[in-house]
Amino acid sequence: MFLQRSAAVAAIGIPAAAADDRPFSTLAPAGPAAAAIAEVWWWMFWGSLVVLALVCALALHAMVRNAERPAPFGSRLLVLGGGIALPLAVITVLLFHGVRSGDAMRPGASGEGAFRVEVTARQWWWAVRYPDVDGAPLFDANEILVPAGRPIDIVLESEDVIHSFWVPRLGGKLDAIPGKTNVLRLEADEPGIYRGMCAEFCGAQHARMGFHLVAMAEDDLQQALLERAAAAPSRDARGASAFERHCAECHSTDSRVGAPATGPNLAAVALRRHLIAGWLRNEPGQLRRWLEDHQTIKPGNHMREMDHVDDAELDAIADWLEGR
Ligand code: CUA
Repeated sequence: MFLQRSAAVAAIGIPAAAADDRPFSTLAPAGPAAAAIAEVWWWMFWGSLVVLALVCALALHAMVRNAERPAPFGSRLLVLGGGIALPLAVITVLLFHGVRSGDAMRPGASGEGAFRVEVTARQWWWAVRYPDVDGAPLFDANEILVPAGRPIDIVLESEDVIHSFWVPRLGGKLDAIPGKTNVLRLEADEPGIYRGMCAEFCGAQHARMGFHLVAMAEDDLQQALLERAAAAPSRDARGASAFERHCAECHSTDSRVGAPATGPNLAAVALRRHLIAGWLRNEPGQLRRWLEDHQTIKPGNHMREMDHVDDAELDAIADWLEGR
């Protein structure tokens, strides 16, 4: 049987509603890389304000000055000073800060001490693989569990088109490119739930290709990962046979088995806080709604139509996945 969601949320010590009320903004940084980005942003903001004030003052001066009297500064000074020296100075300062901040976001050469998790982008969801949980890989989707206060290396790949992985409060974005592996270094100062989005247009449902990164204390993280590893569905339930007939071709319900990966791994779906790539809160009845109306909820998604499946079977599948 699946673990009950409420029990699991209580066990890892994070209130279920903690995350989504917080700002989804680069200006609310919650980690070193994001702090560096926010710093550059504020430099550019105040810098551009100064430049704007200067330009406005000059324009105003040109409008109101008495044309009979000689100009207070020559055109040579304006062109050389305002056109060459000032931009050079501003760009040099910005370059210095940009390079320093970019450096703070690079994964270290060895990656030693960093928590490593592999994320594969697909239209329009994220496959998650933890390389080693109790001696074997663990597969999940759309919710990424990581330690707080320790560097995280997100190993990014894509199965179809170019996507981009972005958690605004934790750092910069990095593209997931087919045939290429990119590594993004993030860190969350405090435990919490951080919302992420695909940041590269990738087709019809780009806007609903979200995810959540859940940062936890180390002990809680180990416990939560083991809980997911143990979230094995029972094979004798009625929902299991309906699932086998209608869903198993695309979805695995074994957290230790990655294939088939056409659709998200559903072994621990009852433990996730959200469904449909961060789009819906995982509340009772939502999964059932999705099975019936998925093309209305997320038009163009690649899941097959379930029109031919009768209501009783849809009920059984949803109940089974929710662990009821
Ligand atoms: Cu994936 Cu936009």
